[in-house]
Amino acid sequence: MDKLVIRGGNPLLGTIRVSGAKNAALPCMAAALLTDEPVILENIPQVRDIETTRKLLAAMGAEVELGYGRAQHRTTICCRTLGSPEASYELVKTMRASTLVLGPLVARCGRARVSLPGGCAIGSRPIDLHIKGLERLGAKLTQEHGYVEASAERLRGAEIVFDKITVTGTEDLLMAAALAEGETVMRNCAREPEVADLADLLNKMGAKIEGAGTSTIRVQGVDRLHGTRHRIIPDRVEAGTFIIAGALTGGDLHVAGCDPHHLGALLQKLEEAGVKTTLTADGVRVMGDAPLRAADMNTEEYPGFPTDMQAQYMALATQAEGTSIITENIFENRFMHAQELVRMGANIKIEGRRAVVQGKSPLSAAAVLASDLRASASLVLAALVADGETIIDRVYHIDRGYERIEEKLRGVGAQIKRMGDVLPKR
Ligand code: UD1
Repeated sequence: MDKLVIRGGNPLLGTIRVSGAKNAALPCMAAALLTDEPVILENIPQVRDIETTRKLLAAMGAEVELGYGRAQHRTTICCRTLGSPEASYELVKTMRASTLVLGPLVARCGRARVSLPGGCAIGSRPIDLHIKGLERLGAKLTQEHGYVEASAERLRGAEIVFDKITVTGTEDLLMAAALAEGETVMRNCAREPEVADLADLLNKMGAKIEGAGTSTIRVQGVDRLHGTRHRIIPDRVEAGTFIIAGALTGGDLHVAGCDPHHLGALLQKLEEAGVKTTLTADGVRVMGDAPLRAADMNTEEYPGFPTDMQAQYMALATQAEGTSIITENIFENRFMHAQELVRMGANIKIEGRRAVVQGKSPLSAAAVLASDLRASASLVLAALVADGETIIDRVYHIDRGYERIEEKLRGVGAQIKRMGDVLPKR
């Protein structure tokens, strides 16, 4: 199993480039199920969740073609015929976002069979809101043998009010509503940029969607959608992770190719914590020359501070002077990284949904275990400033969502290798 070996202490200097957003690419790939014409997606990140989605679509009968050479970030998906509208447990268990195919499959094929995702490292993650919404659109749903089965002759537009804000739930129902008969009004929707990106793609495919990116989305259903070409937005979580890396290591880092508009809450919080950033023509420059100071942070739905940046922020908080209180409001059990950071010398106490981080603590290298995608990113960040050589095990978690992270970080001065490689002597 791959491990990352990181020797801390180097400031990150130069330019690091952000890939396309995994969380936008996943629903956009699922949207290709809605048409029998090719959908060409550009700026698809080369990460494992995308690979899983390609397999998922191919297993249903989709023709999936990967670009190569300069076009390596392009994926063309053509769902001319769909033999088997089913997402098996084998694939869904490795990537919960596989449930994104539920809505498009019922809308296009009139039926779907999708494995229930079960729990994951960050807590129980139900899909009741996806199910309720599809029922509102007229689908019949049953659950048996760990699968949810949905059927409908043709979905009908309806009013859907989400009890709770859900990102993939909003996306799933948006795709279903695009091919439903009549108007759907969705309220209390997720406002994440990834939802807006999906709506953008669907509109290019001939859908009639208004209001994506706000809490009320209106969809006029259409009879059919057609193929198109679409470029995925940049990954704001990858960008945020690199910005924190620049700040933590006392570097001078240009995080290129990101959209600062999507990073508002993070940049504001970092400013409060003493991090200097400036906007460039092509992204964000971070200068880590000032001391870091504690700043409390609460995760919230977009446009609030993203839960997907909580673990990375905690790594930063260990190096800030004073007490930072970090409150996780979205997931019930998302502090698995805290214990690993403590093993590296951090002073963190968990009190229910709050983590109390007392800084600044010198970090020392240790053997640590990645428990989920973003938790592994926080361990990489801590390792970049730790004294000595940290070994991070279970790196497959980080490969789910970060494209060639060790190559990108090495390009700006980090000492980081996959296990098996030998680090040069200092
Ligand atoms: C998406 C992101 C993930 C991010 C999360 C929150 C993708 C592929 N993943 O996950 O990276 O951490 O948003 O920003 O885009 N909930 C229910 N019932 C449901 C659905 C959700 O109770 O049917 C709850 C969840 O348990 C959680 C909260 O709603 O507490 C938000 O979850 P949700 O927004 O659905 O997360 P995902 O879409 O799975």
